[in-house]
Amino acid sequence: MRKIIIAIDGYSACGKSTTAKEVANILGYRYIDSGAMYRAVTLFFLDNHISLTNPREIQKALSEINLGFHFDSNESSDIFMNGINVEKKIRKMRISENVSPVSAIKEVRLAMVAQQRKFGKEKGVVMDGRDIGTVVFPEAELKVFLTADIQTRAIRRQHELLERNQLVDLDEIISNITTRDRIDSMRKESPLIKAKDAFLLDTTHITIDEQVDETIRLAFPKILNKKK
Ligand code: CDP
Repeated sequence: MRKIIIAIDGYSACGKSTTAKEVANILGYRYIDSGAMYRAVTLFFLDNHISLTNPREIQKALSEINLGFHFDSNESSDIFMNGINVEKKIRKMRISENVSPVSAIKEVRLAMVAQQRKFGKEKGVVMDGRDIGTVVFPEAELKVFLTADIQTRAIRRQHELLERNQLVDLDEIISNITTRDRIDSMRKESPLIKAKDAFLLDTTHITIDEQVDETIRLAFPKILNKKK
């Protein structure tokens, strides 16, 4: 069976990561969370007081950031920055509140996209994000674009944060994901947009299992190289 690239894009908190991770497990593929990379860069910029309007400072900071993923036996994937597991830190609201402006910076995007293409070189990857099907892998064999209504997404994100022992007000989450969606969609560099050849999947009324099943159903003809 041939190995393919599966690109899962969409709005904030649509269940992209959960779907992508599970699809990767089923197919025995690598899962790459591109959002975690932008979140890690944001953490570095905040901790090191990098000015978002100084391209030279940004370029220097980017050259000091080394990102990698580690997959453990629980099938979870943690992101490491310069050898340190930053998975927990990057999920904090402090990062969610600052990640979209950082992700809109051209230098940041160029550096991340180059790294993401390296991760996908051997194929057999499921990558989720905002621009995977449009910019990172426009030639991906399968592209899925997820969406869901705002209330459903916010409640799901609130549960996820609770599982991480973070109690965040629903209104604060709604405000954060609405703002991020707006910045991500309006930015000049690689805006969040559905690729023409992506399958649109509204997850408002379906479960994660159904999202996963649907993605696998779409992937099989591609893996078997059948036209569909
Ligand atoms: O999990 P959630 O959908 O809330 O966000 P994420 O996938 O962790 O991504 C966090 C932020 O990173 C997004 O709001 C975007 O600003 C940025 N991002 C991006 O610009 N391009 C990507 N390929 C992935 C994420």
